[in-house]
Amino acid sequence: MKIGIVIVAAGRGERAGAAAEGPKQYRRIGGEPVIRHTLRAFLTWEKAGPVVAVIHPDDEALFAAASAGLAGAGRVLTTHGGATRQQSVLAGLRVLADTDATHVMIHDAARPFVDHPLLERIAAMLEAGHAAVLPALAVTDTLKRIGGNGTVQETVSRAGLFAAQTPQSFGLAAILAAHDKAAAAARDDFTDDAAIAEWAGHAVSLVEGAADNIKLTIRRDIAMADEKLSRQAALPDVRTGNGYDVHQLVPGDGVTLCGVFIAHDQRLSGHSDADVALHALTDALLATCGAGDIGDHFPPSDPQWKGAASRIFLAHAADVVRKRGGVITNADISLIAEAPKIAPHRETMCQNLSEILGISRERCSVKATTNEKIGFIGRKEGIAAIATATVVYGVLA
Ligand code: CTP
Ligand code: MG
Repeated sequence: MKIGIVIVAAGRGERAGAAAEGPKQYRRIGGEPVIRHTLRAFLTWEKAGPVVAVIHPDDEALFAAASAGLAGAGRVLTTHGGATRQQSVLAGLRVLADTDATHVMIHDAARPFVDHPLLERIAAMLEAGHAAVLPALAVTDTLKRIGGNGTVQETVSRAGLFAAQTPQSFGLAAILAAHDKAAAAARDDFTDDAAIAEWAGHAVSLVEGAADNIKLTIRRDIAMADEKLSRQAALPDVRTGNGYDVHQLVPGDGVTLCGVFIAHDQRLSGHSDADVALHALTDALLATCGAGDIGDHFPPSDPQWKGAASRIFLAHAADVVRKRGGVITNADISLIAEAPKIAPHRETMCQNLSEILGISRERCSVKATTNEKIGFIGRKEGIAAIATATVVYGVLA
């Protein structure tokens, strides 16, 4: 399964009113254009395949400025939309049809608060074989139908009523065929893609939407979104993860710690080159984004890791963190070993961390202590390492 993304952004935002910054998807909230938030949400989602942005021909420059410098912006394909949302979606689907995408999530650029848990819920439904998945929330307000004279005609039961959100998600071939069929039948009155799927005879399955995933429609929505993000700007999403590892010492000719080989009358036995320090730091990094531990990514039972240099694992963990939007700001390791002496190698060790993680030397730290001859470490039966990683993931959502 390869999930392509279509982000429709070719509307004129008439209900939100005109602004110097352009249509609503280019208005700034929290200091950045609405569509930049939307793009970032998908570009930092690890299951996202090809991304297509459908824009208005007049907005080329606005889009280029709004996406400039965004991580992954280089892989966003663009195409021009049409006079209706339906036409814009079809244009995006046609571009996606030329990629390796098998499924598609169709999303409004005007919904910048879409979050990864929602995308994961939808992906799980697609994975389970649902042809059409619609995120929606049960209607909570009491509904009234108003007559021509402005007075209430009836109170409508809200039982079984849901408000539709995006991204609405489908098998790519099926939704493209449904859209083509609607266009051929001159049916241009559909306001969302689930309605087209339904019209084409596909069962549409519901998944729980997200309360924050609102569509910015009127001026007030934009002002409230800006206020919300500005408040959050004061709360950076700083996360710390810890990691711990131990390996046994056996007779040998040296140990590898933080990627440095130190001649010694013992060696460490265990996974890969048994570099406890890098293993602990790998776990610490993975822990900042709920990505499991080293054993999940590199099973000890897999023969290809036997004797491998542990820097591979650390580089992989750094990559996982960055793909999820994390910026590594600090890496700290404490080694607990009776012998060999670590101090002469600390600087090289820190430089290794700096190089593998791609962060400055001052953000890396390696310390060592003996265990005062107590316990298994004191008896030189093993070496342990404790690590703490600090990663900043933008601002709190
Ligand atoms: N959209 C589009 N092409 C259109 C119309 C809408 O790509 N011809 C996109 C919008 O840019 C938006 C999403 O569809 O991201 C949802 O539409 P809506 O909220 O109605 O946006 P607008 O049509 O721009 O706003 P309005 O209806 O107030 O003019
Ligand atoms: Mg519209």
